[in-house]
Amino acid sequence: MTDAIQFISLRTSVRPRVAVVLGSGLGAFAETLEEQTEIPYSQIPGWPQSTAVGHAGKLVIGMVEGVPVAALSGRAHLYEGYTALQAVYGLRVLRSLGAETVVLTNAAGGIQPAWRPGTLVLISDHINLLGQSPLSGPNDESLGLRFPDMSEAYSRRLREVSREAGKSLGLELPEGVYAALPGPSYETPAEIRYLRAIGADLVGMSTVPETIAANHMGMKVLGISCVTNHAAGVIDQKLDHKEVLEVGERMKGTLIELLRRTIPRLV
Ligand code: HPA
Repeated sequence: MTDAIQFISLRTSVRPRVAVVLGSGLGAFAETLEEQTEIPYSQIPGWPQSTAVGHAGKLVIGMVEGVPVAALSGRAHLYEGYTALQAVYGLRVLRSLGAETVVLTNAAGGIQPAWRPGTLVLISDHINLLGQSPLSGPNDESLGLRFPDMSEAYSRRLREVSREAGKSLGLELPEGVYAALPGPSYETPAEIRYLRAIGADLVGMSTVPETIAANHMGMKVLGISCVTNHAAGVIDQKLDHKEVLEVGERMKGTLIELLRRTIPRLV
């Protein structure tokens, strides 16, 4: 990781305070950073490449309303063959560069029937069904504790801040519990009924490794899901990645505005 930190430090003097991870089809925010430096993941030592369609695969560092921000446009998923540890590599590098807060965005299936595609939801908690943790193996004491607390994994205060920012845009921003499954197949209707029974409101294939690693490192987390589709079996319709990307594309302006109004209040 030292090589990656040094590589990035030499390309920009901006030291990010907020990291933003952009989910499937949600990369457009990165283009709005002021005074930006763009670095393709392929150039950074040790950085996992993102191969998923809808993920650009670049780090963009710049400013939002005077706040230094690093945006990860594209992330590594378990379904690409990466481990949960590899999935948090970028976040750990950004933590070392100074980021204290991370905003994790994702595309998710809505288990709550009332959430139509295009609804933005604040993640209040998660259920890890990935079968993996980024913290498996020897603990690096310089990063955090062996057994980190997860009782407020998604900061209550940051949710409040984002809800206020959303209000100024006329957004309601309901809260929900995000369940992470490894994918890449979408869930079956039976799996969605199971997830609803155990308390999940949203389902996706990312975010949880980063939330665990962020809490381990003492970072504050804000999680925002863009509901791109009703989860399997909620309505009588098949799931399609094209729809996921289309809804992300349709919501990008709103998400950009929400992020731009939220970020200055996070630091
Ligand atoms: N399931 C899992 N991941 C997803 C979904 C879904 O329905 N929609 C977007 N990402």
